[in-house]
Amino acid sequence: MCPHTASDLGQNPGESVNSSDLTEPPVGISLVVARASNGVIGVGNKLPWHISADLQHFKRLTVGKPVIMGRKTYDSIGKPLPRRTNIVVTRDPAWRAEGVIVAHDLATALALAYEDLHRTGAREVAVIGGAEIFRESLPHAVRVYLTEIRRAYDGDAVLATDFSDWRETAREDHAPETPDGPAFTFITLER
Ligand SMILES: NC(=O)c1ccc[n+]([C@@H]2O[C@H](COP(=O)([O-])OP(=O)(O)OC[C@H]3O[C@@H](n4cnc5c(N)ncnc54)[C@H](OP(=O)(O)O)[C@@H]3O)[C@@H](O)[C@H]2O)c1
Repeated sequence: MCPHTASDLGQNPGESVNSSDLTEPPVGISLVVARASNGVIGVGNKLPWHISADLQHFKRLTVGKPVIMGRKTYDSIGKPLPRRTNIVVTRDPAWRAEGVIVAHDLATALALAYEDLHRTGAREVAVIGGAEIFRESLPHAVRVYLTEIRRAYDGDAVLATDFSDWRETAREDHAPETPDGPAFTFITLER
């Protein structure tokens, strides 16, 4: 069943729903990644930067969709993301968290996410990290929402994937938010 109101997509009154979301077939699996110029995506189970516009961008891209994340990324967020179906992948058979669907392998996580698409009428499964889950799900992805952070960072979570053979369909450059902050670019890549 297709959603017909903003609340069907889990959105607040006032937040817009693109009418094309209600009619077009599912896009498939997308990755939502923010990455430094040296490939770093995390340090000490946190993001190495604070960029408000990127957090808002992430929210716009994921609200109303099933999101798949690794258990470490879930721990770093600390709670389910509101207005999204949260699917956490772990090998630990005892792991549980309230408000979260647990999957013990990626194939199960993807199957659960597709079930959610059919149930809610959402069009896209958003894989939201971290590095291990991005690497494993990349072969299944048809789109990547990449925030390129225009600075190198120290970190222990790295996504080294070369996206040069993907087609760029959107690009939006942003100046630093603070005098010492990094510039960044929102890029959409399609296979
Ligand atoms: N910049 C970004 O866009 C972004 C986005 C998200 C996260 N991050 C950062 O990335 C870092 C976390 O990344 P990470 O690579 O360390 O961890 P992760 O991908 O978030 O989680 C890894 C965990 O997921 C589970 N897992 C992975 N593959 C599995 C499989 N095939 N089957 C079952 N379970 C599986 C395992 O959990 P168990 O150990 O419980 O078995 C594994 O330890 C943090 O620093 C975070 O802040 C960055």
